[in-house]
This record gives sequence, C-alpha cells and structure tokens, in this order.
Amino acid sequence: MTECSTSTNKILKILEKNKFVAAPLAGVTNPPFRRLMRKFFNGLIYTEMVSVEGIRRKADRTLSYLSITDEDHPIGVQLFCSKPEAYKEAIDVVQEYIHAEFVDINMGCPVKKVIKSGSGCAMMLDPKNSAEIIRVSKKALGDVPLTIKIRLGWDRKNLNYNELIKIAYEEGAEAVTLHGRTKTEMFTGEVDYELIADAKSNAKLPIIGNGNVFDVDSLDKMIATGVDGVMIGRGMMKQPWIFESLNNRQDPSEFMTSDKLYELIKELVKHEKVYKGEMFYLEMVKKYIVWFLKGMPDAAALRNRLYMCATEKEMFSLLDYYFYKL
Ligand SMILES: Cc1cc2nc3c(=O)[nH]c(=O)nc-3n(C[C@H](O)[C@H](O)[C@H](O)COP(=O)(O)O)c2cc1C
Repeated sequence: MTECSTSTNKILKILEKNKFVAAPLAGVTNPPFRRLMRKFFNGLIYTEMVSVEGIRRKADRTLSYLSITDEDHPIGVQLFCSKPEAYKEAIDVVQEYIHAEFVDINMGCPVKKVIKSGSGCAMMLDPKNSAEIIRVSKKALGDVPLTIKIRLGWDRKNLNYNELIKIAYEEGAEAVTLHGRTKTEMFTGEVDYELIADAKSNAKLPIIGNGNVFDVDSLDKMIATGVDGVMIGRGMMKQPWIFESLNNRQDPSEFMTSDKLYELIKELVKHEKVYKGEMFYLEMVKKYIVWFLKGMPDAAALRNRLYMCATEKEMFSLLDYYFYKL
C-alpha cells in the first residue's frame, strides 16, 4: 500500500489551478479535437480510451491513440483491460512513447463489448482484481500519478463506489473520477448528486465529479457536492468552448458569435483533414458541425443538406451561405 498525501498530490495541484477536466470520449477526443479544446482550456485532458492488449501487441491503430503534441499537456492516457499482469508492459510502452502527466484506468465504461471482456464498469464487480490492477500500475508508474474513473456501481443494489475509492487511495492512486450514475443507468436520468457528495465526504483523495454538466446551473449543482474537480463530457463534445464560458459564468449556448463559430469549424476541418486523411475526414467533420450548430436557426434543415455534401467545396458553399444569412 502506498497512500498518497494531499500535499504532494500532483493531480490536486492541477485541479486547484483549473477545476475543469475534459472527459475521455472514444471517437471524439482525438488530436484535432484536442487542439480545439486547448483554445478554451488549459486543464486536464485525456486521450481516447486505449486497449492495454493493443499496446502490448504494438498494434498500429492502438499506438496512433498515443500520438500527442506539446499543447496536449497536461494529458492522461486512459487504459482499459481486466488483466493485472498486462498493465506493467503497457504502461512501460505508454511512458516510452509519450510521457503522460498521468494514467487513468477506465472502470466505468458501460459499453457491451468492453464489459464482455471484464473491463470498464465490470471491474467494479471485482474489487480485489481492481485493487491488484491499481497496485501493479502504480508500481510501473513510479512518481507519475494514477487515477481511476468509476460509476456509482453496477446497479442500485450494488453501490460500491466508496469501496473502490478506498481501494484507490490505499493502493496509491491520486484521484478518482466518479460518474454519478450506475452501469445500468447508462447515460439516462438525473445524476445522483447526493451520492457524489457522500463519496467526497468519505474520500481521502481528490474526487472529480462527472455527469450532466451542460450549463451554469448544472455546474453549480456539481460544485455543491464539494468535489475537487468537475469533468465534462457531452457538453464539451457539442460545445468545446464550454470551459471558458462556464469560467465566465456564461451559458455555452450564448458564448460564441457566429463569426467565431465558423472560424472554429474551418480550423477543425483543416486539422481533421491532416489527421484522418482525404478519404475519411469529411464524415467526421460533418458530425462535429451538426453538434456545434445544434439549437441555431434552421439547424435541422442544414443538417440534412450537410450530410448530402460529397465534397469539402460543396460543404463550404452551403456553410458560407448559412453563416452569411445568420
Ligand atoms: C461518445 C462518448 C464516448 C465516451 N468514451 C469514453 C471513454 O473512452 N472513456 C471513459 O471513461 N468514458 C467515456 N465516455 C463517458 C464520458 O467520459 C462521461 O463519463 C459521460 O459522458 C458522463 O459525462 P457527461 O454527462 O458530461 O457527458 C464516453 C461518453 C460518450 C458520450
């Protein structure tokens, strides 16, 4: 057991400067999207979730998730796998490739494919194995902080977040992110602020609260639980400027001018084209544009026409006209 003291806790030090944390989002928080996020935010961010087995095999696609730039820091690599013995080798590769500020273990993912392999939220059903994974990982990381990301438990009959947080502390982890729902609740319903507050009041290490922060009101509800940091996922995916707007106590839907928004879209298209390549970038950027424009005038009609665009030129003539008319 290597308990971590709060005075030397590197994650807490970063949270004290910037309480917001950008959530790991598979298929979203890739390098071009992270570049966009960094325009509005200098706190903790993550790579997409990375398979420990893929890293051990040095699979090209998996290793591409480890590609980071200088402006990504402070960044954590999020790992998933249920086999303790696999972590050491994977962490050695991660640190050789990227020197992340921290490594996070995903113990909250509810997706079937991940659960089936015993990873993600299934790990909350086996605290002993999870303790071993944290122990092995912390040993491999040395001074580099380790964090875990959990849910409240598997379901309402198995609310074992306090047990996992205690294990994380005892095995030397430096923070726990708690998504205030169970696995069976997936992403639906209200977040349980009472249980997040309960976790915080029992924890001996920093707690990052997560779930449903989209605006000033929901931010205030999360902060009222007493958490040390606030992680934002879907709010950021749809409005990457959310961190700056909430820092200014402004709702993200009122933060961007249409000129600024169009500039941001153009920038993302440019970066995605380089990252994904000519063949694949267009479908990806259309998805982002639809998210960013949600709630704006005639957004639904624009969405349908956008998905029909076959080339970047067609897409930009549609967008030029849309933004000109706004
Ligand atoms: C598209 C998408 C991808 C996600 N990918 C991951 C992931 O790779 N790792 C993880 O721990 N959580 C993942 N999550 C969960 C989020 O990190 C976050 O815990 C969840 O969305 C709740 O926060 P929110 O209400 O702010 O979105 C994902 C969620 C979404 C919507």
